[in-house]
Amino acid sequence: MTKHPLMEDIAHVLITERQILSRIDAMADEIAADYRDKDLVLVGILKGAVVFFAELYKSLRMPAAIDFMAISSYGAATHSTGTVRVLKDLDISVEGKHVLIVEDIVDSGLTLQYLKTNMLARSVASVRVATLLDKPERRKVDIQPDYCGFTIPNEFVVGYGLDYNERYRNLREVCVLKPEIYTR
Ligand code: IMP
Repeated sequence: MTKHPLMEDIAHVLITERQILSRIDAMADEIAADYRDKDLVLVGILKGAVVFFAELYKSLRMPAAIDFMAISSYGAATHSTGTVRVLKDLDISVEGKHVLIVEDIVDSGLTLQYLKTNMLARSVASVRVATLLDKPERRKVDIQPDYCGFTIPNEFVVGYGLDYNERYRNLREVCVLKPEIYTR
C-alpha cells in the first residue's frame, strides 16, 4: 500500500486501525447486549463521528434506526469556545425511543452536556453516549461517556474522522499532528 500523503504532517500514530476496529467490535457487542429488544436510535454527531459511526453501526448485531445532528465546531482552533449551536437538527422523531449519541471525542464535555439536555427535552426513553475517544484531563463539566473506545492523554489528535481545519479525517489511524502544523 502506498503511504498516505497526509501522514507527512503526523508526529506519531496513537491508535492503529487494527486496535480501533477490534475495540469498536467489542463496544458494539456491549451496546447490543444492553439494548436488546429496545427501540434504539443512533444519533451521529457530524462531522467528526462519521467514520466511527459507520464502523459501529456495521458492527451492531441488532436493529437500530440512525439519524444525524450537526453542531458548531471549533473551526480552526484547537480548544473549545464553549458555545454550541445546532447547524442541522434530527430528521426523525426520537420521542419514546432509546437514544445513543455517537461522538468522536469528549474533551471539555460541553458539547455532550448540551446534547444530552437537548435529547432529554424531546421526551426520549433514555439517552446515553458512545465515544471513540475520551480526554478526561480536559473536562470542564462533570460528564462521562457511557461507552468509550479509548482514553487518551491531553494531546490534539486527528484521523478516523477527526480533523484539524477540515483535513486528516480520512486517515485510518488516530494520530498526533506535528506541532508546527497548528502553530504556523
Ligand atoms: P468538547 O465540547 O470540548 O467536549 O468538544 C468536543 C468536540 O471538539 C469533538 O466532537 C471534536 O469535534 C472537537 N475536538 C476535541 N478535541 C479534539 C482533538 O483532539 N482533535 C480533533 N477534534 C477535537
